[in-house]
Amino acid sequence: MAFQLSTVVLIVLQFQLSLTDHCIKRYFNQNSFVCACDTRSCPSIPGTTRPPKGYIDQWVSSRSLHRFHLTRLNLNRLSRPLFPPSLVVTLRLNDRRQTIHGFGGAFTDATGLNLATLPMALRDQIMRDYFSTDGIDYSIGRVPIAGTDFSARVYSYDDNNGEEDLELKNFALQPEDINLKIPMIKRALELKNGPFRLLCSPWSSPGWMKTNGNIIGAGFLKGVPGGPYYKAWAKYLFKFQHNYCFLFDRFLDSYSKEGINFWAMTTQNEPNIAIEIGIFLLHNLRFTPENMRDWVKYDLGPELEKAGYGRDKLNLLLLDDNRQLLVNYTQIVLKDETAASFINGIAFHWYKINNQPHYNELNVVHNNFPNHFLISTEACEGYQSSSAIKAQLGNWTRAETYAKDIIKDLNRYTTGWVDWNLVLDTKGGSSYENNSADALILVDTDRKIYYRNPMFYSLGHFSKFIPPGSVYIGHQVQGNSRGVYLAAFEDPSNQMVIVILNTNDYPVNLIINKFAQVPVPITLDGHSIRTLLTPSRKVN
Ligand SMILES: *[C@@H]1O[C@H](CO)[C@@H](O)[C@H](O)[C@H]1NC(C)=O
Ligand SMILES: *[C@@H]1O[C@H](CO)[C@@H](O)[C@H](O)[C@H]1NC(C)=O
Ligand SMILES: *[C@@H]1O[C@H](CO)[C@@H](O)[C@H](O)[C@H]1NC(C)=O
Repeated sequence: MAFQLSTVVLIVLQFQLSLTDHCIKRYFNQNSFVCACDTRSCPSIPGTTRPPKGYIDQWVSSRSLHRFHLTRLNLNRLSRPLFPPSLVVTLRLNDRRQTIHGFGGAFTDATGLNLATLPMALRDQIMRDYFSTDGIDYSIGRVPIAGTDFSARVYSYDDNNGEEDLELKNFALQPEDINLKIPMIKRALELKNGPFRLLCSPWSSPGWMKTNGNIIGAGFLKGVPGGPYYKAWAKYLFKFQHNYCFLFDRFLDSYSKEGINFWAMTTQNEPNIAIEIGIFLLHNLRFTPENMRDWVKYDLGPELEKAGYGRDKLNLLLLDDNRQLLVNYTQIVLKDETAASFINGIAFHWYKINNQPHYNELNVVHNNFPNHFLISTEACEGYQSSSAIKAQLGNWTRAETYAKDIIKDLNRYTTGWVDWNLVLDTKGGSSYENNSADALILVDTDRKIYYRNPMFYSLGHFSKFIPPGSVYIGHQVQGNSRGVYLAAFEDPSNQMVIVILNTNDYPVNLIINKFAQVPVPITLDGHSIRTLLTPSRKVN
């Protein structure tokens, strides 16, 4: 009896301790923990706060202890570090670079299918976790145009039993749009308090438009740019057409009728993926740099303008594929003045082919084409190969990999960072192709529980605190910065924000100059991510 009693006391104590971080910790044989949510209890994430004058706020997540743990530092009572700092960071306040577009994830079919397995209250809590200020306040949502490898079936909006339909008379949104994607997007729009940008990307055209006759696999559009198939594919993406008594809505117009208007469209998701890794089971459409240039120049660009979706209304983004392709595609497409005139920015993905990250390509492309902004539009863990470890509950290493990649991109002119599936199941699905991966939120569909993975907090350290319109501020470092990564910003209310990652096993002492009125000494715990915020400097 006595033994049982003390067990109960212990459990209660642990529960209270973990609740101070708004997290019910669960361990699954990993180097860290997840935060669990079920219908009985689901602590919500603390709202974003602003420190009063004379203070700075410090939010910390760490491998062994915290999730968004808030402490407030009194600038008048900062203690000097006991040891000299190993690192001194000085902000260069006049070195103002790119303006941030935002952070987010993708409304895939798999996300909708997994949400649908949960009771309404939990579904809505996940939406709050992502899109509200008492969540990680995502500011970008990516929407696949028809099916992807994270769908339950292979489909386009005009399959027409494989028969040609160049006038797109049989174009129609599918049950996945009506029942899954559109309701999720509408709820996100309701929850958002502040700018929210929607980005759409096509995966494949209908099979009858392709040289391989199939939605999946590495086919090109039939014929040549300027010809009927390339023209039809451009029109499929947006065109609204009166034709006697028929009204034909295509993708952008159909969503617009639902009150969903897009900020940007990419020209094609991963136009080169089939070549890079030889996957022939994915929804995919190939474009070489040359036929991408000509399709944009002769078909997509002019047709978008005619339909009222010119570059001032909708941002057209090139590439949407891995960094290693940035130089090749931009050299060919953006060197053409007419093609370049239709394109606003360059989207890229984080996947490393042959383990080469190719970060320097971001600097090269920014220097060659400074008027075209850069944005990272897809990332996930567990993608490396079919034998790689897919979804994992509580892998902290992956949280660090995310934060490191985000910081390295931001340090090289990137204006935003968008994750892949918002929600998967604990096996990393569902996907018709069994192409599973990891995600920030994983659902145990049998037990009706969901888990916030460490990556959720890692991306949250950026999305929650760096609103769209923030400006990247340069910095210099002196001392040993090994394993420490950081990026600084000034937000639209003139609040300063710094995100710092320590990937070392040991703590690191550093001093930050020109961030607040006085130099700020900080000790970074081993394996931790923190966001520091100053009060708004706006004079009232
Ligand atoms: C880029 O283009 C060059 C020259 O055409 C080619 O040799 C190289 O393989 C291309 N790189 C990639 C990553 O496709
Ligand atoms: C965590 O993920 C990383 C990256 O995918 C992997 O290398 C590592 O083995 C995983 N850790 C565990 C304990 O499974
Ligand atoms: C995916 O896995 C399921 C269950 O193991 C199997 O029945 C199906 O054939 C697999 N699909 C593919 C495309 O490999």
